[in-house]
Amino acid sequence: GADVEVDISKVEPGQLIRVMWRSKPVWIVRRTPEILEALAGHEDKLKDPNSEQEQQPTFAQNRYRSLKEEYLVLVGICTHLGCSPQHLKDGAFEEIVEGVQDGFFCPCHGSKFDMAGRVFESVPAPLNLVVPPYMYIDDSTILIG
Ligand code: FES
Repeated sequence: GADVEVDISKVEPGQLIRVMWRSKPVWIVRRTPEILEALAGHEDKLKDPNSEQEQQPTFAQNRYRSLKEEYLVLVGICTHLGCSPQHLKDGAFEEIVEGVQDGFFCPCHGSKFDMAGRVFESVPAPLNLVVPPYMYIDDSTILIG
């Protein structure tokens, strides 16, 4: 079928891997405790911190937007006009948003997203990055679709 099984057992802390699902890029990011903790620090700068403005799985309507906090699963397509945002990590995102170490930056028109795919204020993208439907088959295997 169109569903995709992904082995996440070799994803290192902080690493992002890419897979294709229904012709779309899907990212899986293994978030460190530091990355998870930082999500609480900038919610006043987000358009929709609890993902209330869009059709998403209900488990995505909170700070972490994932079934297990450690693993973020997102469609890697900007919600503005469909470009592919860049993953900026280990402090590289601070040039984009002061005080935020890691995030996603869309080079096309400058939209900015945090490590839960939540969009910052004052950018063209209207919505948070999309969380696709997925489930865990076992501790190291995710089924997307
Ligand atoms: Fe990403 Fe326009 S397509 S900001």
